[in-house]
Amino acid sequence: MSDVVRADGSVRDDLRSGAVMETHLDAPLFARGKVRDVYDLGDRLLLVATDRLSAFDCVLPTGIPDRGRVLTGLSAFWFDRLAGIVRTHYITTDPDRCPPSLGEPVRALAGRAMLVRKCRRIDFECVVRGYLAGSAWQEYRATGRAGGRALPAGLRPGSRLPEPIFTPATKATSGHDETITPAEMARRIGAPLARRLEEASLALYGAAAATAERCGFILVDTKFEFGLEGDELVLIDEAVTPDSSRFWDAAAYAATGSTESFDKQVVRDYLERIGWDKVPPAPALPSEVVEATRQRYLEVYRRLVGHPLAAPAAGAGRSARADGPGTH
Ligand SMILES: Nc1ncnc2c1ncn2[C@@H]1O[C@H](COP(=O)(O)OP(=O)(O)OP(=O)(O)O)[C@@H](O)[C@H]1O
Ligand SMILES: [Mg+2]
Repeated sequence: MSDVVRADGSVRDDLRSGAVMETHLDAPLFARGKVRDVYDLGDRLLLVATDRLSAFDCVLPTGIPDRGRVLTGLSAFWFDRLAGIVRTHYITTDPDRCPPSLGEPVRALAGRAMLVRKCRRIDFECVVRGYLAGSAWQEYRATGRAGGRALPAGLRPGSRLPEPIFTPATKATSGHDETITPAEMARRIGAPLARRLEEASLALYGAAAATAERCGFILVDTKFEFGLEGDELVLIDEAVTPDSSRFWDAAAYAATGSTESFDKQVVRDYLERIGWDKVPPAPALPSEVVEATRQRYLEVYRRLVGHPLAAPAAGAGRSARADGPGTH
């Protein structure tokens, strides 16, 4: 698969899919994460969600077209709705409100670029769980606890918890994040800040879960990141996307107990099926897996936001085919 560099500085994995794999704007790079290219604009950051996808902590060579725009669009949707609970870093996704110094290229990234206030990041992942899934289920099965907290006996994978629980984790710069107890978090950053993080996270989860429920989703668990501006707590990074959260279909869960997630499960299943040893580099994905994954992301967006993801801005490089009628 040949890389194609566009006039806007974006690098796409091929002309057919048009997935944006990397961007090169004329601004200092603050960080290149697994998914986002982050540009430093002084007291602000430009977060550009690419179409890169990671699985088993490894970025894949194949991108998922539209994924970055879904992640940015969903985050913007949630930042708007959650702003009454805690201040957020969100400023705009409108290229016209971005610094003129970024020039025309930022227009071609419309929908995937988000201007935010730069904060001092608090290096913890603030995880809230309403249901027993993933690593919490593994821990519960082994110890009867989740995040170190005792839970009633007899819960099963997918069981609703008596009440949502806060299970923070460290943000490891390399390797896996490590779940710690709220008491350990308090020891590391002080009880007042730890308590504020827990209260904010639980309140945000409650509000988001209620909205998701109205859209036919169970918000199983989600991860928030926070920063500080002066003394003020600010919700940063992304919010309640399929990358940071597990969504289950409420009707399927009620009917059959189905706990199939609306995320990159299709990709994980494929990589398991072909027996990839999870040592980088990861293999490329076949087009059926790319398309099935893309449809999952578009569906979450459509159901939560209430309308299909708009076609990309002119010149942003996606073919009309991908967003034409009948694809949602
Ligand atoms: N307002 C903000 N101020 C400071 N840093 C931020 C802000 N919003 C997001 N970030 C950071 O920008 C990066 C976004 O990139 P991305 O989501 O691709 O990272 P990642 O691969 O998830 O890596 P990480 O392990 O650092 O989260 C993250 O490191 C995130 O913590
Ligand atoms: Mg991230």
